[in-house]
Amino acid sequence: MYPPVLVDPFKRSINYLRVSVTDRCDFRCVYCMSEHMTFLPKRELLTLEELDRLCSAFVHLGVRKIRITGGEPLVRRGILDFMRRFSRHLDSGLLDELTVTTNGSQLRRFATQLHQLGMRRINVSLDTLNQSKFSRVTRWGRLPQVLDGIDAALEAGLRVKINTVALKGFNEDELFNLVSWCRQMDMDITFIEVMPMGDIADEDRIGQYWSMRDLRAQLSTVYSLTDLAERTGGPARYVRVEETGQKIGFITPLSHNFCESCNRVRLTCKGELYMCLGQEDSADLRKPLRDHPSSDTPLIAAIHEAIARKPKGHDFDYSRQVVAGNVTRHMSHTGG
Ligand code: 5AD
Ligand code: SF4
Repeated sequence: MYPPVLVDPFKRSINYLRVSVTDRCDFRCVYCMSEHMTFLPKRELLTLEELDRLCSAFVHLGVRKIRITGGEPLVRRGILDFMRRFSRHLDSGLLDELTVTTNGSQLRRFATQLHQLGMRRINVSLDTLNQSKFSRVTRWGRLPQVLDGIDAALEAGLRVKINTVALKGFNEDELFNLVSWCRQMDMDITFIEVMPMGDIADEDRIGQYWSMRDLRAQLSTVYSLTDLAERTGGPARYVRVEETGQKIGFITPLSHNFCESCNRVRLTCKGELYMCLGQEDSADLRKPLRDHPSSDTPLIAAIHEAIARKPKGHDFDYSRQVVAGNVTRHMSHTGG
């Protein structure tokens, strides 16, 4: 018999599940996708019913927070119905938080419904406030649509956190502008180091790696930053800006300083469970799910076996000339 909780070999409790519900997106961000992507055929995807069964199994195994990602999760047909149904776990108290990471393009349409089903916070990815730069980095995105979506989210009562990928030579000059815009809008902001994901040629990337150490040092020339003890079990560190009270996060996925407190696993839209963002190992959960439509026992066994293989940490390394530990998987596959 398995215990009703998930604890990995390094005694880390797994209570956070990130779920990619689609590999598709209405944008083509240069660091995330190539211009011409081949997407998965529908039969490969978990159906919304399968997603519900699988995510519910994790909730019954002690997962208390679920983040819906993509691709762009809000472009998957029926995803609001799925979330509305799944919010029963919020009502029952088994789940603390259901949230989403979105590019913001569909928020005008969905923000009110998200709030109504019990969502309280969302993350919106946004790298620049300049329209033509926005078009360059997202290829297909339109900035006014995203800004309007953010307004809709705030109007609906959702807390919004902005996630900004730090790109040297691209949005360096917008650092202070982005920070003060977020302050005006009462939103938190987190900067993310660009990760070596996918088979995108280095020269195709907009900008280069801009380290959080440099970014933070630039902020410190103007603001007094105080480290906050708050940790999320992930690669984010937070500071408070003493002058404004604003919270700023830094995500350094390439550093190893967070692996020891890692509390999360990632499910892809075809039901593969990745135990670590930076490793190739995954477990197929779709098979036990489909092979046993009326019993979750094999599925639960497969989940436990997967967690027992969770590695100690990842192998990303930018410190050498070549990018080592590059995982040739697009971010839209594992959902960031
Ligand atoms: N490096 C860092 N962040 C990335 N994202 C997508 N690809 C990369 C990458 N190569 C981010 C998006 C969004 C989240 C879903 O993942 O910008 O914030
Ligand atoms: Fe879409 Fe987000 Fe990838 Fe951009 S980073 S292409 S918005 S999934």
